Amino acid sequence: MEKDMLVQKLDAKIYEKLDAFIAGTEDKQENVIRILHEAQLLFGYLPPEVQLHVAHAVDLPAAKINGIVTFYSYFTEKPIGKYRISICMGTACFVKGASAVLKELRDQLRPNEDGMSDDGLFSLREVRCLGACGLAPVLTVNDKIYGHVKPEDIKGLLTHYREESMADVTV
Ligand code: FES
Repeated sequence: MEKDMLVQKLDAKIYEKLDAFIAGTEDKQENVIRILHEAQLLFGYLPPEVQLHVAHAVDLPAAKINGIVTFYSYFTEKPIGKYRISICMGTACFVKGASAVLKELRDQLRPNEDGMSDDGLFSLREVRCLGACGLAPVLTVNDKIYGHVKPEDIKGLLTHYREESMADVTV
């Protein structure tokens, strides 16, 4: 019960921040993508209630907002891990062995159907060409690019981020 109240308070604070951002945005309808970016940064994802909140705030139909959210692959309607791993399955990466890297990632993370690892730390998704074909096979973790990745690199890579996350918690 207390935890629920805490979650509600946190949510209220995040909505306040979002409302302040919207209030400071000119031409709200023109800039609705910027507003949705900010909302996703604040909430981590864009569930229906947040989309509805934005729709009311910028005076656009909820269906229009949902259309934007589902059109751009950057936006997500489901919670995502702290570390978002995108593995390129484009032609160059595929030819250079991306499938084996993907298999290793799946074996290590055992992602659910939304691509999220058990501990909620990682999200895994397949993408097409990250524009770094010379480094194939390529994956990214959040904004960081890793090139010439081999299956045997994966364990160390995940350990690195698990340790980083632990350090964040203990600081
Ligand atoms: S095909 Fe993987 S980066 Fe281009």
